[in-house]
Amino acid sequence: MPRIGIELNNVCNLDCGHCFRDIYRGVGDKSNLFFPLELLEKILTEAKPLGYKYVAITGGEPPMHPQFGEALEMIAQHGFRYHFLTNARNFAKTLKAVTPKIRRAQLANISISVDGATEATHDQIRGKGSYREVVSALATCKAMGIPTALISTINRANRHEIDQLALLGAHLGVERHVFVHQNPTQHNFSNDLVLPLSEWRGVERDVTRLRNEFRHEIEMAIGFYTEYYLPRCAPLTMDDLNIDYKGRLTLCCQISNYRDGEQDGEDVVADLRRESLPSALSRLIKLVHQVHQERLEMAADSARREQLHYPCLACLERFGKSTEQTTIVQLQGLQAKG
Ligand SMILES: C[S@@+](CC[C@H](N)C(=O)[O-])C[C@H]1O[C@@H](n2cnc3c(N)ncnc32)[C@H](O)[C@@H]1O
Ligand code: SF4
Ligand code: SF4
Repeated sequence: MPRIGIELNNVCNLDCGHCFRDIYRGVGDKSNLFFPLELLEKILTEAKPLGYKYVAITGGEPPMHPQFGEALEMIAQHGFRYHFLTNARNFAKTLKAVTPKIRRAQLANISISVDGATEATHDQIRGKGSYREVVSALATCKAMGIPTALISTINRANRHEIDQLALLGAHLGVERHVFVHQNPTQHNFSNDLVLPLSEWRGVERDVTRLRNEFRHEIEMAIGFYTEYYLPRCAPLTMDDLNIDYKGRLTLCCQISNYRDGEQDGEDVVADLRRESLPSALSRLIKLVHQVHQERLEMAADSARREQLHYPCLACLERFGKSTEQTTIVQLQGLQAKG
């Protein structure tokens, strides 16, 4: 189902070692770090006639939006189904925001990030106390009949825990578990979390094996190895839109507000505060078309086509999000893979 992705804010109460977002961590007035609700209303109103019926909320840490409950109310009142991602901190407050009847009725699931099957691994990446909060949030949702999904970003610290992560999801009754390759940043490189590209295929094999071993849905998010060179991901087929916390339509949540990107890249397409969604989408169509064209040319070039085995890494490079150092690490991985 086509989805409108909204980055509801750019603040967070954790400082995860792997995080690719350029989260604002300064002091002072933070009001411009939160998605304005008037703009949300405008976007929902403009999106409905285009057939959109689903909103995927990310951040930052979405429940930290001061009007989080009101945002959910607005989405639900407009008839959209929705889910949001969370790190599960202050979960009792988050639960209150989904309790009113219509918000609960339109909630597809709560997606919780878990980056270690053990407290030690998860907390090493996400900070002390986080693992217990995640497990307790999942148990609460199970008891209340709220559907949950898990997202695990795989890196050097947790690569050996993939099976146990899936088992944890099964015990806690999740509907779905998505495993994601960690996109490299200077920050996660410094934290020694970058898993060499030569090991990514092994991760994908493990996840594929697990799909047959559990009853809940298990999948690998886009970014995995592909033999097919032309784009098939939801942003490049325009099935997933992404709107950043500043209200701008951007190509993809994977590269939006990226912590190594020095300034706005070409992936920032249009400011929805000043432009209608249909007009912004026509700009997006041009960019998507251009990327398809470029990938076609890369696929025909034997010196460059190997890069397309990992489409998200190709985007990081294309949109100027990666540093020289992280690019070198990735390329070495490609050579190692042979
Ligand atoms: C940016 S967070 C926002 C939502 C919320 N704060 C959370 O952590 O779930 C969305 C997802 O991106 C994942 N993520 C963070 N850094 C990443 C990276 N370098 N590569 C891939 N996924 C990453 C997080 O682990 C999380 O599952
Ligand atoms: S991954 Fe999520 S919880 Fe962790 S720092 Fe990034 S935005 Fe915050
Ligand atoms: S980063 Fe690029 S290839 Fe990956 S999902 Fe986004 S648009 Fe698609």
